[in-house]
Amino acid sequence: MAELKASLACAVLLSYTAFLLSSAVLAFVEDLDDTFKDNRMDDVWLVDFYAPWCGYCKKLEPIWHDVGAELKNSGSPVRVGKMDATAYSGVASEFGVRGYPTIKLLKGELAYTYKGPRTKDDIIEFANRVAGPAVRSLPSRQMFDHVLKRHDVLFVYVGGESPLKEKYIDVASELIVYTYFFSASEDVLPESVNLPELPSVVVFKDGSFFTYDEYEDGSLSSWVNRERFQGYLQIDGFTLYELGETGKLVAIAVIDEKEPTEENIRLKGLIQRVATEYREHFNRDFQFGHMDGNDYINGLIMGEVTVPSIIILNTSNEQYFLPSEPVETLEQLVHFINSVLDGSAQAYGGDGIFQRIKRVAYDARSTVMSVFRSSPVLGCFLFGLPLGVISLMCYGICTAESDDGAEELEMMKREGLTDEEEEEEEEEEERRRQAGKPEAPEDEEGEVERDEKSAVEKKTD
Ligand SMILES: *[C@@H]1O[C@H](CO)[C@@H](O)[C@H](O)[C@H]1NC(C)=O
Repeated sequence: MAELKASLACAVLLSYTAFLLSSAVLAFVEDLDDTFKDNRMDDVWLVDFYAPWCGYCKKLEPIWHDVGAELKNSGSPVRVGKMDATAYSGVASEFGVRGYPTIKLLKGELAYTYKGPRTKDDIIEFANRVAGPAVRSLPSRQMFDHVLKRHDVLFVYVGGESPLKEKYIDVASELIVYTYFFSASEDVLPESVNLPELPSVVVFKDGSFFTYDEYEDGSLSSWVNRERFQGYLQIDGFTLYELGETGKLVAIAVIDEKEPTEENIRLKGLIQRVATEYREHFNRDFQFGHMDGNDYINGLIMGEVTVPSIIILNTSNEQYFLPSEPVETLEQLVHFINSVLDGSAQAYGGDGIFQRIKRVAYDARSTVMSVFRSSPVLGCFLFGLPLGVISLMCYGICTAESDDGAEELEMMKREGLTDEEEEEEEEEEERRRQAGKPEAPEDEEGEVERDEKSAVEKKTD
């Protein structure tokens, strides 16, 4: 009896805390409705447009509360809100909301969409950056040194008032979603920075600096977009997506960082050298970096790249390029990159109809595999049961005597169906084998042959 009372008290206490928490949360994140559209103009708003049924939105919820709390506690002028975009779809579509959740910072007439990882720190950094002035001025050498230390890539306008500065401010207010923009007078820069003419727009990165040239580099915004990454990067799935937005091809050394073999180190070193020594040649069209492990790339190209190796991706059309022979020297690598540039290299993949069908099949297969991996019993039940039923039906049809042509056709159709199912079973077997279950050696060889054949098939398609 005492126990029951205790647990009852506990439950009451818990729900009371939950109530306190949720009311505190309401204070940090404002629930927005139709009236928001007319009342928002005096403030800068960070808004989460969500749908009640969406899983990613639910995941974001606690993070969003933390974002609201921290911005409020730090005295930020940014107000944090959330809007059920399904209930107020008219407002949401006016702000260009298409998927859920969509995070936007709204500042007067301007709306900025957040595309980074959905973590508290990243979102807060974004809000502070975008809510502040588009161009921040650097009044002293100390400030310059300070920001140079903090940012891997630093854009600075150098000089007084000019048409170039107006253009710079325009570009900054658009591209501040990606990076910071600064301005300074020439005497703030270190003596080692000699600018041939003023005013100039300069980017400091990779231990050096590069100046925007209106005649060679095209529009300022396209130049900023191309230069906003370091010349050489560690690349993961998210960075690759971001790099894609620059429209550049991405040359990647796929390596195993846990096993720093000579080959691993050599390929990484070669890509690094090309990035710096051939910057003039390739910077306009290529981004360079390395990636740890081949899992991500394999999923992307629906194949298997060896580790270590070099691959060039065109993220705009999902094509990729592999060197026709192993890259051993800098010259070979430069030759390979040039062949991609002049179109003589063989392109694989792409976003054609066949590739898209292949993508659907590939994703379906990955899903089946992952179900089996996480729960073999469930997998057997989900896929084995229908397989069993179909086999039985097929058996029944095959053994039934009949000379009706239509039925034969039907039978053939069904056989086609079972073949596919059997392939899945084979995959399941393959998976078990990979998991370390012993198998007959002849079978193992057969497997290798099959794999090689499919590798060739992949190349030819
Ligand atoms: C990369 O894809 C884009 C978009 O389809 C295309 O215009 C460009 O020529 C491609 N680049 C190379 C080197 O194939």
